Amino acid sequence: MRIVLGVGGGIAAYKSAELVRALAKRGDDVQVVLTDAGRQFITPLTFAALTGHKVITSLFASESDSAGTLTSAVEHIGVAQENDLLLVAPATADLLAKFAHGLATDFLTTLYLAFTGPVVLAPAMNSNMWNHSATQANLALLRERGHRFVDPDEGWLACGTTGPGRLADPERIAAAVDFISRRRTDLSGDTVLVTAGPTQEPLDPVRYITNRSSGKMGYAIAEAARDRGAKVILVSGPVSIPAPAGITVEHVRTAREMREAVLRRLEEATIIVKSAAVGDYHLEHVSQQKMKKTAARLSVELDPTPDILAEAGRKKGDRLLIGFAAETEHLAQEARRKLETKNCDMVVANLVGREGVGFESDYNEVTLITRSADPVHIGPAPKREIADRILDQIPVLRLIAHSAV
Ligand SMILES: Cc1cc2nc3c(=O)[nH]c(=O)nc-3n(C[C@H](O)[C@H](O)[C@H](O)COP(=O)(O)O)c2cc1C
Repeated sequence: MRIVLGVGGGIAAYKSAELVRALAKRGDDVQVVLTDAGRQFITPLTFAALTGHKVITSLFASESDSAGTLTSAVEHIGVAQENDLLLVAPATADLLAKFAHGLATDFLTTLYLAFTGPVVLAPAMNSNMWNHSATQANLALLRERGHRFVDPDEGWLACGTTGPGRLADPERIAAAVDFISRRRTDLSGDTVLVTAGPTQEPLDPVRYITNRSSGKMGYAIAEAARDRGAKVILVSGPVSIPAPAGITVEHVRTAREMREAVLRRLEEATIIVKSAAVGDYHLEHVSQQKMKKTAARLSVELDPTPDILAEAGRKKGDRLLIGFAAETEHLAQEARRKLETKNCDMVVANLVGREGVGFESDYNEVTLITRSADPVHIGPAPKREIADRILDQIPVLRLIAHSAV
């Protein structure tokens, strides 16, 4: 894999040389970008010798290339396009802040904005700097963006204190890179059909019944599947999230429309993820005119909507089916009931109605329930991280499904 390694101005910069060796041993081609502060701690010559490539130290080519020849007029764009993964180690507090807020003041921070592939950050700093609310807020922003962190170890720090902040062992960082690189293509050849968001069940031309689902979890799953090489079809209820690039989106409004779209696209899919919060009831005969307000009590009789998950379960064949159970109580029992009665391969169970996670939030906390593996608890974590952890289960689900045949 082609990796850009950004090295910031931290005392642990010397460990990045060991990291380059660990990556090279795995067969990775590493291009080092050294910040001005990084150069105070380690020389470009060390990295040039270890990687066989000139080290980029400046945004402006004349400074960056001692021979004075331009490899590309806009080198940061070229480097962003030519590489598969951006790794930053040590990621200093300053770099985390600049990445979080989109500052582009040197080669590495400009490259970060131009880079569209996976980003792995290995922070290292004094414990107080790590624990500072500013750093923690920046970390939260970057995690929400879907970047992977190799968190620092606890222990003795060069500043003479002990605590969290020591750069993770280079082998641990290389292993995380290895894991991400496997994720990059593990769903190529699959077509993933994802449903997301709420449905709207009309009462009259201006009123409808809906729920608090924002669609963020389903969109995160769709994007994660796309980034892992899958073809993705997203059937989305009404949400305010823009359509993600590289994904076919079918917009629907009601549970019936969602059922129709899911059944129409089912044949194409190899994996179905039903994360939409489909309304359970609808009004069979919707008034053509707006209902007038009167002083009398209003009663409406609602009928159940079609059970799309159960129908998909009956028709799934050898496709994998992942359902969601959003409950306010008896979560595990309800998830197991869904797993059995709807013929799911896995149910993602989440308690809703709590502050900070679930509906509308960027975070979630879930338990993955399968037929034979132990339940897996994930979170609280950003929805994109939860999405990847759900998709990480696909090989296990295939194994379980296969051994059941
Ligand atoms: C001796 C010394 C050690 C430093 N170690 C760290 C460190 O481990 N982590 C960190 O975030 N900043 C550290 N700093 C501060 C950074 O060098 C400083 O914030 C710098 O602006 C970071 O530049 P960068 O964005 O190129 O990484 C250190 C500074 C000095 C003088």
